[in-house]
Amino acid sequence: MKSNIEIQRIEKSKIDSVDFNNLPFGSVYSDHMLECDFVNGEWQTPVIKPYAPISLDPAAKIFHYGQSIFEGMKAYKDAEGNTMLFRPLDNCKRLNKSAERLVIPEVPEDIFMDGLKKLLEIDNDWIPTNEGSSLYIRPFMFASGIGFHASPADAYKFIICTAPSGAYFAGKVKVLIEEKYARAANGGVGFAKAGGNYAAQFYPTQLAIEKGYNQVIWTDDNSHEYIEEAGAMNIFIRINDTLITSPTSDRILDGITRKSVIQIAEDMNIDVEVRKITVSEVIAAAQSGSLKEMFGAGTAAVISPIAGFGYQGTDYDLPELETPFAETLKKAITDIQTNKAEDPYGWRVML
Ligand code: PLP
Ligand code: COI
Repeated sequence: MKSNIEIQRIEKSKIDSVDFNNLPFGSVYSDHMLECDFVNGEWQTPVIKPYAPISLDPAAKIFHYGQSIFEGMKAYKDAEGNTMLFRPLDNCKRLNKSAERLVIPEVPEDIFMDGLKKLLEIDNDWIPTNEGSSLYIRPFMFASGIGFHASPADAYKFIICTAPSGAYFAGKVKVLIEEKYARAANGGVGFAKAGGNYAAQFYPTQLAIEKGYNQVIWTDDNSHEYIEEAGAMNIFIRINDTLITSPTSDRILDGITRKSVIQIAEDMNIDVEVRKITVSEVIAAAQSGSLKEMFGAGTAAVISPIAGFGYQGTDYDLPELETPFAETLKKAITDIQTNKAEDPYGWRVML
């Protein structure tokens, strides 16, 4: 497959119209995209072509039955101009895990990896070098095959688009612990990066925003007593000097940032507990003063510190610490990602 990528280059780059010193998150797109069709039971030759709208039949099953999955990754460039990815094979594997659950054909690893590397080579100038910026990569797959019959489609598209991006959140966030709605349920698709999971989050998140919060802390669908995720991120809670994060399950996404943070924290001799944590435990810790930090972890936001949370009409503030774990861990992970530190884990993939 390696050499078998068709390449159609743009006539004129639009890069000069982009202000790399003021990058938004995920809304400016690079010159090219990779597109690969699955038809007649086979993946076709991937094509790298100018970024442009795609044409779909109105009966394409993506529109009706939501067979759609995605990934989120980042490419970085160091001071010497080297380009690198962070644990990219984990994204490929997770995309295929999501694919299996949504009855979407798995994308071959060589199409994903060789296609991505070639795309990054062609759009290399789009990878930002400014501190805190990176090239956000969005691989996704969806049902392009048609029919109103509620069954899996017979054709799919795999696309990779990239977007030079700045920070996902401007600063600390204020969150609301969810008491009624759920993003995922036992036996459902919460562990998959299925588009529908995010659609399901929008309404409760909108209600939280109307109440003055930035996002929702998801609790389990059954009792709403267990803390599970922070918006579209995994959650970490520090009580005294112990860092606690929920175990992954079929309701929780197995985040690559989460597992990297756990590893780095353990190697810094931070006491990490992967266990269920209840809302009552967090409230009791907030009241006694032992709740020190809460933060979300995910590719887009990296580590997003939480300023405070609301629950049952009461707001709880988190203390301002001099050297929060969130800051130490964010520096450690981004230094590995951007080639500023040794990578003892072999996570960095240089292109
Ligand atoms: N949880 C959810 C629901 C997500 O959408 C994401 C984002 O990808 C994460 C957690 C974090 O996962 P990762 O660190 O692999 O980006
Ligand atoms: C990511 O963190 O990369 C994600 O995919 C979350 C997304 C909803 C922005």
